[in-house]
Amino acid sequence: MANFDPATVLSHLSVEEKVRLLCGKDAWTLHGLPAESVPEIVMTDGPHGVRLTAAATLNDDTHPATVFPVEAAMAATWNPELIKEVAAAIGRECQALGVGVILGPGLNGKRSPLGGRNFEYFSEDPYLTGVMASAYVQGVQSEGVGACIKHFVGNEQETRRFQINTQVDERTLQEIYLAPFARAIREASPWTVMGAYNSVNGEFACQNSDVLQRLLRDELGFDGLVMSDWSAVQDKTLAHANGLDLEMPGPALRDHELLNAVQSGQLDEASLDQRVLRVLKLIRQVTDARKAVTVDWDAHHELAVRAAADSMVLLKHEQELLPLAKADSIALIGQFATEPRFQGGGSSHMKPKQMSTVLDALSARGSVSYAAGYTETEVSSAQLTEAVETARQADRVVLLTGTTDSMESEGFDRADMKLAPDHVRLIQAVAAVNPNLVVVLHSGSALDTRDIEDICPVLLQAWLPGQGGGEALARVLQGETNPGGKLSETFPLRLEHNPTYETFPGNKTDTTYHEGLFVGYRYYDSKVLPVQYPFGHGLSYTRFELSDLRVEQSGQQPPVALEVTLKNTGARAGSEVVQVYIQDAQSTYRRPEQELKGLARVHLEPGAEQRVRIALDDQAFAYYVTHLGRFAVESGRFELRAGFSSRDIRLTASVDVNSDTEVRILPTMEDPVNEWLADSRTEPAMTQVLADLGFDEDHPMWAIVMGFPIPQLLKFIPWMGHDEATAERVRQQLADRRNAAG
Ligand code: BGC
Repeated sequence: MANFDPATVLSHLSVEEKVRLLCGKDAWTLHGLPAESVPEIVMTDGPHGVRLTAAATLNDDTHPATVFPVEAAMAATWNPELIKEVAAAIGRECQALGVGVILGPGLNGKRSPLGGRNFEYFSEDPYLTGVMASAYVQGVQSEGVGACIKHFVGNEQETRRFQINTQVDERTLQEIYLAPFARAIREASPWTVMGAYNSVNGEFACQNSDVLQRLLRDELGFDGLVMSDWSAVQDKTLAHANGLDLEMPGPALRDHELLNAVQSGQLDEASLDQRVLRVLKLIRQVTDARKAVTVDWDAHHELAVRAAADSMVLLKHEQELLPLAKADSIALIGQFATEPRFQGGGSSHMKPKQMSTVLDALSARGSVSYAAGYTETEVSSAQLTEAVETARQADRVVLLTGTTDSMESEGFDRADMKLAPDHVRLIQAVAAVNPNLVVVLHSGSALDTRDIEDICPVLLQAWLPGQGGGEALARVLQGETNPGGKLSETFPLRLEHNPTYETFPGNKTDTTYHEGLFVGYRYYDSKVLPVQYPFGHGLSYTRFELSDLRVEQSGQQPPVALEVTLKNTGARAGSEVVQVYIQDAQSTYRRPEQELKGLARVHLEPGAEQRVRIALDDQAFAYYVTHLGRFAVESGRFELRAGFSSRDIRLTASVDVNSDTEVRILPTMEDPVNEWLADSRTEPAMTQVLADLGFDEDHPMWAIVMGFPIPQLLKFIPWMGHDEATAERVRQQLADRRNAAG
């Protein structure tokens, strides 16, 4: 138990000692102050488990710990309670290993399916990301370990991630990229935030006062510690002056720069003190929460299996091939069956405490013959022959494919969405001898399945499922777990359909978020583009129906509660996710076709039904109004859509919402006639003026004059047969009425 008061310790420190505290001691440790009873604390990577390296350096020799499914998979459970449980288990393992802060979860978005780190991020949807992030942070911190939401902000690609300047407009930043951070901070109070490598609108995120001060501190109200990403600090003085508390990793190389800055008055000591105080407070918080914990590793493994099984998404299921019958002989094909593709590469790469392979898990349940089929991305002719022969002799084939570490990892973006060409060749050859083919996809992000769609009756998205993946897969294939995962991102028909296709990953210096709000299904649904598998999609071995949608609203303001009856009409127990999307039918500014605003994953026995209630608060209806500088709800009609994916809406209802906020900008004396007519505040004045001028729709110039700004209208008045004094009178009349309306 630490026994120091941060403010008192601060008052004892020299400037040199203060500066020293603002950078790590080594890759993972923060400096302690033995004379002041301030202990060292350890931070380490997540987010899929504890990645404590054996030495205090950036190496891959890590203590074994439970590897849970990657974030993309966690989000595909659509089950925040389960993710909270997973994160609590991670928290306990942190305690057992002496880790005070875990560097996760990652909350960045998925602009492009090519993002190399998409596996490590939750979703293309900011609501789903926010809900999952908040559950994760609550889970970890319930065990007395700090979470670190990262990378703040605009870190949506790996290409040139240390230098790239993310150009993003304010509304897009607020609605898409900041929203998950906002929810996590509001609902879960993470102890720390990690700043991103990239620049945001012209300045590096870790030394950008607009990012760290205005957005993070002032608007989102974050009052914990802000650390840099590892080696993200370019200018130490600027970073600390503009809001960064802690530079990572250590040891510090340029402390003298900071010392000089303080001594020369470039950085005032009061703001240095504020940063030091945050570091000391974090150390105090971590040490106060330290506790002795014994980890039940088997229970954590079982939790990892359960989470993996609940994340698997049955994309396609024809010919009733699943679940596999106990009596079936199974050909299991793919190197991933013995060397599982269970996690992604980079800073989240761990050493698993236990490992389950699908070969072991299926063999324990019945007759399985195995062929490797490939080594990494290559298929030799001997492997092809062996795989085909193995497939020929079995009742059913389960073939594992997906991305390899060389195709998808931190550090670089994917080249395309395709499977390795040799894997496609293997699948085609196997399908030709045995059409009873179940293809399991291992990837952290969307794949292009067009090459295999016609020959694969069953496709199961198994993500990078962590150490329990093999056992989880066996449970799903055998029907012990009914798959209930739902896509946390759209699988577009082809990469070219993605809205960032022409612009990702930008040029040498900049990446511009031209697509704005229209990310993922927000784009595909607004464009009415066909997709391969929509956002929220996932099949089951049973069937569900939705009925009796009711909306409860007291007055015409949010919150609004929506209720539906979910019924399991099939023959097996299983779970379904009720998804609620909102369409703003009458907004002044363009909004996506629909946006996810509520969800509930519900487990039901066959024949059972349940009333499901989903509350929609203010934020569910609001959007960011740039000229007001805040989120606002606009009065009008909204459509509430309840369904099982963004493309499978079963029930809808309309609600009228009244808001005090006026989001429209009053037309000015420079705006055109049609905008005056479209706005109820200026319409009477303009209608009156046009009537007085005897100018109506029968006039041959009517449609053209509608686009005239007021000065051009005034110039046109003599052409309508009136004198110049009339033009001046009209100007005055419009100006007076406008002032009265404003
Ligand atoms: C990654 C972070 C990670 C850090 C420490 C960086 O390269 O971007 O997510 O926490 O390394 O390993």
